[in-house]
Amino acid sequence: MNDTFLKACRGEQTPYTPVWFMRQAGRYLPEYQKIRSKVSFLELCKRPELCTEVTLQPVDIFGFDAAILFSDILIPMEAMGLALEFHEGRGPVFPQPVRDRQAVDALVVPDPKERVPFVMETIRLLRRALQVPLIGFAGAPFTLATYLIEGGSSRVFLHTKKMMFQEPELYHDLLEKITACTSSYLQAQARAGAQALQLFDSWAGILAPCDYEQFALPYVQSIIADLRAMTDIPLIYFANNGATLTGMTVTAGADVLGFDWRLPIGEAIQRAGDHAVQGNLDPLALFLPADRLEQRVKGMLSEARAARGYIFNLGHGIQPETPPDQVRIVVDAVHRHSGR
Ligand code: CP3
Repeated sequence: MNDTFLKACRGEQTPYTPVWFMRQAGRYLPEYQKIRSKVSFLELCKRPELCTEVTLQPVDIFGFDAAILFSDILIPMEAMGLALEFHEGRGPVFPQPVRDRQAVDALVVPDPKERVPFVMETIRLLRRALQVPLIGFAGAPFTLATYLIEGGSSRVFLHTKKMMFQEPELYHDLLEKITACTSSYLQAQARAGAQALQLFDSWAGILAPCDYEQFALPYVQSIIADLRAMTDIPLIYFANNGATLTGMTVTAGADVLGFDWRLPIGEAIQRAGDHAVQGNLDPLALFLPADRLEQRVKGMLSEARAARGYIFNLGHGIQPETPPDQVRIVVDAVHRHSGR
C-alpha cells in the first residue's frame, strides 16, 4: 500500500512528494473516451463497475499516488429532487433553477444510502482494487448553490448574488439544506471507505472577502466540524481563485489547503501555516515544451521544500485537450526530483 499521500496530508515525512491531479479521470484520456462513447456521463456516474474502471485508469497509466472517486459534485444535488442534465459542450444544466421559496422548500435532504447507493458501492469496489489511497469528494455549499440558482455554469452569477443580497433569508435556508445534504453525503463516503475527503469550492473566488465570510465560509466550517466529530481521515479544502481569501480559508478546519496557481507555491505554503498544502501548477502549463515543463515542476518542488506536508497537484482541473504524454512528464518529474 502506497501511503505517501496520506502521510503528506498529515504533515509526516515522506520518501518523495506524492502527486495526483484534480479531474485526473476524464476526457483527456482515450481510455475514458472509449467508455464514454457507449454511455452518457450521468449514466456512467451511476454504474459502479464503470466508475471503478475510469477511476483506476489514470492511476494505472501514470502512477498517481492517490485516486479520486469518479463522480460529479452535482450528483447529490440531483438526489435533493432536482432534474439534472449534462449537455455536450455546455456542461451541467438544471432546467428548473432554484430561485424562490417554493423551490427551496421542495428540496429534500436525501439519505445517501438510499438516493446515491451507487457512490458508496463504487467506493467499496475501489477499496478492493486500489494500492493507493482513495479520495472522496463533494462540492462546497456555495459552489453547489451557484449551479442550483443559476441553473448551470455562469460568468456573472447574477441570480446567486441577487438572492444573497435581496433575499438573504432564502439564501441561507437554501445553503442550510445543501450543507445538511453535503455533510451526510461525505460522512457516508467516509463510512464506505474513503480515506480522505476533498471539498471543491470552485467559485469561492468570485466573492468579495466580506461576502465569502458571511455567505460561504460558515457552511464549509460546519461540514468540516461534522466530519471531524466522526472520522480522523484527512480533510482537504480547495477554494479556487482564493488568494484574497487565505486569511479565512485557514479557519475552515481542514488539514490540507488546496491552492490554484495565482499564488506562488512558496507563498501559499507560508500563508497556510500549520496546514499541509496541495497544488498548484497551472493546468495549461501542461502545454509547455517538455524540458520547460520539467524545469517548472523542479522549481515548484524546491519552493515547496519548506512545507510541513506537500502534495503536488494542478491548480484546477486538467483540460480535456491535454496530451497524456505531458501528464506522464509531470508525474515522473515530481517523483524523480523530490526523492529524499
Ligand atoms: O477525476 C476526477 O477528478 C473525478 C471526477 C470529477 C468530475 N467532476 C467528473 C466530470 C470531479 C472531482 C468533478 C468535480 C466537479 N464537477 C467540479 C469541481 C471541480 C472543478 O472543476 O471546479 C465542478 C464545478 C463540477 C461540475 C461540472 N461537471 C462541470 C462544470 C462539468 C462540465 C465541464 C467539464 O469540465 O466537462 C462537469 C462534467 C464532468 N464532470 C465531466 C467529468 C469527467 C465531463 C463529462 C463528460 O464525460 O462529458
